[in-house]
Amino acid sequence: MLMKTAVFVKSSKMYQECPTDKLPEYAFIGRSNVGKSSLINMLTDRRTLAKTSSTPGKTQLINHFLINESWYLVDLPGIGYARVAQKAQKSWGPMISNYLIKRETLVNTFMLLDARLSPQKIDLDFMNEMVMNQVPFSMVFTKADKLKPRELKQNLDAYRNALLEIWEYLPEVFVTSSETKAGGEELLDFIEKLNKLYAEHEGTGKK
Ligand code: GTP
Ligand code: MG
Repeated sequence: MLMKTAVFVKSSKMYQECPTDKLPEYAFIGRSNVGKSSLINMLTDRRTLAKTSSTPGKTQLINHFLINESWYLVDLPGIGYARVAQKAQKSWGPMISNYLIKRETLVNTFMLLDARLSPQKIDLDFMNEMVMNQVPFSMVFTKADKLKPRELKQNLDAYRNALLEIWEYLPEVFVTSSETKAGGEELLDFIEKLNKLYAEHEGTGKK
């Protein structure tokens, strides 16, 4: 996919405030610091489009970036970031859950997972919530550059096996690095395919 334009459009507190032009959109979700904003910058080939930080909790709102004037990438706040003690640690907070469940133009959500870690309860719980609420999602492993190929394979295999114990089949899996740009083209090709389906079916069918 050719990345012609990528512009920040707006930050919203609630899904009701999000853009109303019915363009298809793709959200990035995952724990604080997993690399959501960095991945958006990598995909758009713009270093500072989405704000990144080594301090967790950088992204606080629902941020829409318009790509090629035809679809949106959406940067979301991290899940499980305990700024306000225990309550905020509940992964499925109302801002994010309402957005994921009710946003009509949300075509797919990319669940980001740190490739260095074994399956974490908070991530598994979050993905199970998405399954239960019929939120379509794919898994995106991040920071692949921090592992040797053999370690990476071991970790991904462990993840797949853990998930196949609870699910019958796996969603689409992408392996990425914002440092080396690995996996970026695959992800954009996947989005392009979904954009075509969205255009053919005139929406996600969600009301
Ligand atoms: P919140 O907005 O706080 O939820 O975090 P986020 O998920 O948006 O993470 P962000 O993109 O801000 O990245 C967090 C840190 O991880 C930054 O210091 C990034 O430079 C680093 N980082 C992100 N992706 C990669 C990657 O693929 N490889 C390496 N080596 N570092 C990465
Ligand atoms: Mg962020």
